[in-house]
Amino acid sequence: WTPTTPLDLIASPKDAINVFDFEAVAFTKVPPAHFGYMAAGIDDEITLRANRSAFLKYQLRPRRMRDVSQIDMSVNLFGTKWKTPIIIAPTGGNKAYDPEGEIAVARAARAGGFLNVLSNAGASTIEDVIAARQGEVWFQLYATSSVEVAKQVIRRVERAGAPVLEITVDRNGGRNQETFFRLKKLDPRNCAGCHVHGIGSPQERPNYDGIDMSKVKSMQSSNMTWDFIKQVRDTTKMKIILKGIVTEEDAALCLKYGVDGIHVSNHGGRSEDGGRGSIECLPEVAKVARGKVPILFDSGVRRGSDVFKALALGATAVCVGRPYLWGLGAFGQPGVEKVMDILQTELRGVMQQMGAPSIADIHPSMVIKES
Ligand code: FNR
Repeated sequence: WTPTTPLDLIASPKDAINVFDFEAVAFTKVPPAHFGYMAAGIDDEITLRANRSAFLKYQLRPRRMRDVSQIDMSVNLFGTKWKTPIIIAPTGGNKAYDPEGEIAVARAARAGGFLNVLSNAGASTIEDVIAARQGEVWFQLYATSSVEVAKQVIRRVERAGAPVLEITVDRNGGRNQETFFRLKKLDPRNCAGCHVHGIGSPQERPNYDGIDMSKVKSMQSSNMTWDFIKQVRDTTKMKIILKGIVTEEDAALCLKYGVDGIHVSNHGGRSEDGGRGSIECLPEVAKVARGKVPILFDSGVRRGSDVFKALALGATAVCVGRPYLWGLGAFGQPGVEKVMDILQTELRGVMQQMGAPSIADIHPSMVIKES
């Protein structure tokens, strides 16, 4: 049970006490179909729930008598220093939650100095998002059924100046999102062209502008194999991260195929049901990849203590998905800013309690798995 602030007491972002307060407000403001799309997991939503409950299996071992009067949360990713290890995960169709969509998120990232990753299922172009961010933006790609189309998108994104390409590898076809279907029934609105209602066609996705999509059979990458990574490697100088890795076997293959980073994620419980909580997948990936390439982590992160646990278990940086969408749906850009602010304030407090004044001081021994 997470107590939330009564709704009528949350008139603006500053009234929210934790990220869950934004979820409650967003539920009242976002159209039911859009909220349902955001909230949904797969089938019985077992993986979705495991993402939260699995954090309970890891407990903190704080160290005392250390000087934590100054906390430094900065991390370095591919040569860029960020003041926080908390990152905006890529999510599609942000205009479903606020008219400014991805632009509002990019402006929030600029104001707060954090990193945002633009989804290629987004409703804004990479050029517009980089202009709004006025700084580094990463790009996430769902490869289509056509390698050529993927390469053209990659070249465009590289030209626009994105230094890092995340390729999402955990969306291969089947997904049954019953929470979305159920809430959609409650939604009388006809949001023409809206990605979430499934009306928007791939051709309308702005980052595919001018690209011949006639050979694209699907926006899924059901035919993607490791050979695709080799081809991308030969196409671009951008750093390549694979998003959706949850096993040590695949982490080892990532290293074998020369990827630059690994993103441990089960897509917020939106890939397959009946899986482990994402945090339970992190140690085996870290066993293989820690110290070799940066490891990103997401799925189920809602508290600074969740971020801390992930960092201790081997993550270099930690992403959030739904929490910033709650902020966006509740209050637009200021909502995203406040969500990220709350998570950083919580992380700062946990680092103080744990005796870890910097990210480098967050040691694996500070988290123990219950036996
Ligand atoms: C996503 N996610 C996602 N991932 C991706 O690689 N490309 C995308 O376009 C999207 N779109 C998307 C939409 C919505 C509504 C959600 C909730 C999620 C997954 C996202 O990047 C991230 O992995 C999860 O959201 C992390 O889990 P939490 O923080 O939502 O629990």
